[in-house]
Amino acid sequence: MTGLTRRALAAAGLAAALPAHAQVTGKRPLVIAHRGASGQLPEHTLSCYLLAIQQGADYIEPDLVVTKDGILVARHENEISATTDVADKPNFARRKKTKTIDGKPVEGWFVEDFTLAELKTLRARERLPKIRPANAKYDGNEAIPTFHQIVELARVESAKAKRTIGVYPEMKHPSYFRSIGLALEPRLAAALKTQSLDSRSSPVFVQSFEPESLRRFRRLSPVRRVQLIAAEGGPADEKGARYADMLTPAGLKAIKAYADGIGVELPLVLNLDDGAVGPPTPLVANAHAAGLQVHAWTVRAENHFLPANLRRGTAPDAYGDVHSLLRALYAAGIDGVFSDFPWVAVQVRGGK
Ligand code: G3P
Ligand code: CA
Repeated sequence: MTGLTRRALAAAGLAAALPAHAQVTGKRPLVIAHRGASGQLPEHTLSCYLLAIQQGADYIEPDLVVTKDGILVARHENEISATTDVADKPNFARRKKTKTIDGKPVEGWFVEDFTLAELKTLRARERLPKIRPANAKYDGNEAIPTFHQIVELARVESAKAKRTIGVYPEMKHPSYFRSIGLALEPRLAAALKTQSLDSRSSPVFVQSFEPESLRRFRRLSPVRRVQLIAAEGGPADEKGARYADMLTPAGLKAIKAYADGIGVELPLVLNLDDGAVGPPTPLVANAHAAGLQVHAWTVRAENHFLPANLRRGTAPDAYGDVHSLLRALYAAGIDGVFSDFPWVAVQVRGGK
């Protein structure tokens, strides 16, 4: 949007309808479909991404892990018993193991112990059937998608919709995968290059909680990178490091050396003490001063996930006042929002 357009909107009294940051930068906050439209379909399935695209999402977000034969696939964890039917497959019963992932014991079935052909025999399931029972009706319908399939979907749907739909992959457990000889960084860089998504202006953000993973990725590909920061704890790849230290002006300056933005948990952007949405924290202003974009996660519509004052009724699976949460985030000046319900984020932002 040009300055002239902004002045014209202001003259017409319409500028106030734009989110705060858009009034300054001329850019609308991005709507990032978190695991697809995962509030309405089992996460990380092609249908779930397609629904998000149809709802107007700017980017679709696959979490990525690696198969035994080195293929990138979309799952939130490398342990897949919560989101597939693997536990019901007698032929895979002996693959059940206990492993240490990021310092914690995890029991189940692991993507890295399956070839892609074996994984493709499994079917996706809803992760949260109690909170999202309607989604569970789609259990068993779809296979686990590869990253290649997801990028192809974005490409085909971009052409159909005559707008660019980007991909926003997260490298999951990168130091763990590196330790077992299945590094994510070179595979993702190569996959993006193969699909001609290998320039600074490509519609891609690559994200990770692990700084070293982003530094390695930076040496392999020029696409934009986002450092994920949780409200508590620290990255798995740097012993003793704390996310809190990344949020200081010095920490943000250090991130700027290897990343273009930060992806932060909601309470880092908005004060959510006492169960109510309070004023914004200084983080967005501080990050912008450091030259970093700010994308916030994760907006979900159900009471279970909302601050107490935005819940409606007592059922955990009923939808609350997610509109107010989104309005507060946009007013705080964020550059993007991850949501399981991209249609609501698009609606509150205004326009597709
Ligand atoms: O990538 C942003 C957000 O998705 C990080 O959390 O656990 O949902 O991948 P998670
Ligand atoms: Ca993610």
